[in-house]
Amino acid sequence: MEKMPYRPELDCVQMPTADQVTTTDWQLRLPVLAGKQVVLRELRASDAASLHAMLTTEEVSRFISPPPTTVEAFERFIAWTHRMRTAGTYACFAITVSGYDTAIGIFQVRELEPGFGSAEWGFAIGSAFWGTGVFQEGAELVLGFTFDTLKVHRLEARCAVQNGRGNGALQKIGAVQEGMLRKSFLRNGHYLDQALYAIVEDDWRASCASARMAGMHVH
Ligand SMILES: CC(C)(COP(=O)(O)OP(=O)(O)OC[C@H]1O[C@@H](n2cnc3c(N)ncnc32)[C@H](O)[C@@H]1OP(=O)(O)O)[C@@H](O)C(=O)NCCC(=O)NCCS
Repeated sequence: MEKMPYRPELDCVQMPTADQVTTTDWQLRLPVLAGKQVVLRELRASDAASLHAMLTTEEVSRFISPPPTTVEAFERFIAWTHRMRTAGTYACFAITVSGYDTAIGIFQVRELEPGFGSAEWGFAIGSAFWGTGVFQEGAELVLGFTFDTLKVHRLEARCAVQNGRGNGALQKIGAVQEGMLRKSFLRNGHYLDQALYAIVEDDWRASCASARMAGMHVH
């Protein structure tokens, strides 16, 4: 999700009326998703300072849409994530490491069609935590939430071709590159090519089953 994390021009959520939707639990509050070393939880306004410090560095932000530039702008982004979650179109988790409550990054999932049949996800983690296993464990937790709770059947991701870690991260968790979106992402005045990836529910369930047979705990 290169168009992350917040675009003020899209901040115009149409709130459904009570008789239009059945509000599910995740719309009221995101569940806490706990793994061995990672805990994913709802974002809080107090996460703004650490997310600002973690996600605005050049190495983190060079291949994603510019993140908010101030702590106050991150607070507005976090409030927006709550409104979108309540509306049932988007979920954004804070990434924390077990035993510490500090937000070191985010995973976000947004619907691509009403009802979350297909969705797109994106992620960003402070560079001090790259290569530590935080991404892989967090991604597996998010995939479980996406396919089991949101009932998504197809989860897409877009990743700038030059983004070596982003492409490597997607491939190692089973995302399949399906195509190339030529000059689809404007960054620093240049249009970049993006690879289009997807994970479909059937493939994800099959890989969970084979991981279980191999004695690995997936979700
Ligand atoms: C994307 C991100 C969340 C991944 O987290 P991470 O901790 O760096 O990911 P991991 O180290 O677990 O996995 C990255 C994989 O890519 C591989 N990789 C690194 N550089 C690479 C390159 N230039 N080309 C190909 N693969 C590369 C790594 O070796 C690793 O695979 P391995 O674990 O099998 O060795 C993190 O790098 C990040 O926040 N980047 C900035 C934001 C961003 O680009 N978001 C993604 C948008 S699609």
